[in-house]
Amino acid sequence: MAEMQTIAPSSVNLMLTDPPYNLGEFMKQRETNLGQMRDNFFVSAGWDNGSDIIWVDLMESLFRQSSRIMAPGGSAIVFMSILKVEAIVTIAKKYGFYYKTTGIWHKRNPMPRNMNLHYINSTECWIYFVYKKRTGTFNNNGRAVHDFIETSVTPASERKWGKHPTQKPVALMKHFIDHLTDPGEHVLDPFMGSGSTGVAAATSERKFTGIEIENTYFTIAESRINEAADG
Ligand SMILES: C[S@@+](CC[C@H](N)C(=O)[O-])C[C@H]1O[C@@H](n2cnc3c(N)ncnc32)[C@H](O)[C@@H]1O
Repeated sequence: MAEMQTIAPSSVNLMLTDPPYNLGEFMKQRETNLGQMRDNFFVSAGWDNGSDIIWVDLMESLFRQSSRIMAPGGSAIVFMSILKVEAIVTIAKKYGFYYKTTGIWHKRNPMPRNMNLHYINSTECWIYFVYKKRTGTFNNNGRAVHDFIETSVTPASERKWGKHPTQKPVALMKHFIDHLTDPGEHVLDPFMGSGSTGVAAATSERKFTGIEIENTYFTIAESRINEAADG
């Protein structure tokens, strides 16, 4: 998370991010056939295999670094597996993030994998915080907005620059950016992957900073965001 040190203090209005869920070890202990199960179920990606200690350190580092660069009253949305919500809330509170709610993202059309054996995995959650205040920007235009959002899985048209195994749909990211920031404000995604947050930020005319450890994904993100910014 060293790259976050280059971001100006108190300059981020929304941190919208989808960090590693770290479910690799959990699935292994259950003797799950990862090869068959993880694709479109949890994830099929090396970054998700760290030990719990490494994952907690990474999340501590994320919130410690972000507490320096968040504007007071700025918001954070962190996607996470339901199993890890409590761990994230505990860490975030230590660094001045006020917990608002845990919401659900429902995928309308997930792969119906093993549909005769168990419930199809079709949800992920997102945790909503406000930094140093109890409320932040909330552009609801007078409408009641539920803590539940439903979209289809990422469409093929959003994968034309290359594939990422856990790519989020742009519509999902735009939902949060439009509610929680105003045009011209600064959105950060420190685990940018293929750049869906950046594409949504460009579409909604927000400034964007993205960080990604894997060159291949960084290149995909750059191409997607540049294309969105060019309109
Ligand atoms: C769950 S994915 C994010 C996917 C993204 N939301 C998208 O729509 O493509 C998490 C990403 O974090 C990256 N990552 C893991 N550890 C990282 C670190 N220490 N610093 C920056 N990126 C990291 C992984 O390479 C992966 O692309």
